[in-house]
Amino acid sequence: MKKVKKKKFSIKKTLRIIIPLFVIIIFLLNLNRIKIYLISKSSGYSEKIVETFLNKDIDTNIINKKYSKTLEKIINTEHYNDKYINDYLDINYLDKDNYLKDINTLLTLGYTSNEINTFYEKLNSDSINIILESNYLEDLLDIINISYFKEDFLSRYIKYLENKDYDNETAITYVNIGLDNDYYTNVIKVENQEDILVLVNKYNHLDSNYIPNDLKTISSKYQWMGRSNSLRNDAKIAFEEMCEAAKKDNIYIYAGSGYRSYSNQKYLYNTYVQRDGFNAAETYSARAGYSEHQTGLAMDIANKNDFISKEDKEYEWLINNSYKYGYILRYPEGKEKITGYMYEEWHYRYVGKETAKEVYESNLTYDEFIAKK
Ligand code: DAL
Ligand code: ZN
Repeated sequence: MKKVKKKKFSIKKTLRIIIPLFVIIIFLLNLNRIKIYLISKSSGYSEKIVETFLNKDIDTNIINKKYSKTLEKIINTEHYNDKYINDYLDINYLDKDNYLKDINTLLTLGYTSNEINTFYEKLNSDSINIILESNYLEDLLDIINISYFKEDFLSRYIKYLENKDYDNETAITYVNIGLDNDYYTNVIKVENQEDILVLVNKYNHLDSNYIPNDLKTISSKYQWMGRSNSLRNDAKIAFEEMCEAAKKDNIYIYAGSGYRSYSNQKYLYNTYVQRDGFNAAETYSARAGYSEHQTGLAMDIANKNDFISKEDKEYEWLINNSYKYGYILRYPEGKEKITGYMYEEWHYRYVGKETAKEVYESNLTYDEFIAKK
């Protein structure tokens, strides 16, 4: 009897211990699930992803900081790298092929989340591929944000900046002009031959058969040595107006050489090559098709003796006043590398009054002015 009593007491006691223990164990086993559930609710990540985060010992502060689809997508891939966890949070997720692999490459190259977001916002996938295949460029974001950045030239900008020590704006301007290639290479046929603003230089050429359809002969009063120069109508009117205005200031200027046909330019260029040699001729004479004179918008201006030079009083008058009549000095001193020509004190180009004023005030060559548009 005593024995039975003892046994009864023992089972009860054991149960008293086992049951709470069991409850505690069950609770503890579920604690992790409860934790996962709560984190998932507060962060927006799925429970499965939260579990991955916890397995990878990712700080719950990071998990709770904000929901990031990029982090959610990358965490279980081979592209995930602990080092970039904060960047993943800030990189906007895009549903694109190779996106996770590519953002990881960009991060490895050294780009920040902000830069990466901007690249994807502003650039097409060809450009992204160029960036992925190039060395890290510290200023890439600045370059993309320059108003005259041209996406088609991205690889040229990167290459040019790798090899040249220019500031970003200069480098972009020069590549836009074409200066990353030798003169007369990578040339473009101009599309707007008739446009008063047409740019013709060693990278932009006219058709060999282009003849402006509104050429007008300049009044004999303003012809140099009895020549018969012509210009397009607007340029002719403005030139005569300028000659008249100069005259009021006791300055006498004349039309030395205006419109030149393709064949005339070809003849001139060849004559200069014969006379002075190829290298010298290239510095002051355009190859046929590449001369502004073929546009009917350029004039070599003379005084009564010769083409204008720096020492002449006519030069000073023109420098200070030509823009008022729509003319700009086209090949200024110190800009030879940009224009491709030596300083030509006599060669003026008609671009209309409004643009001439802008170019004059900008202190840029016309090549740079257009490249910054
Ligand atoms: N002298 C200028 C550059 C021309 O030949 O058009
Ligand atoms: Zn000229």
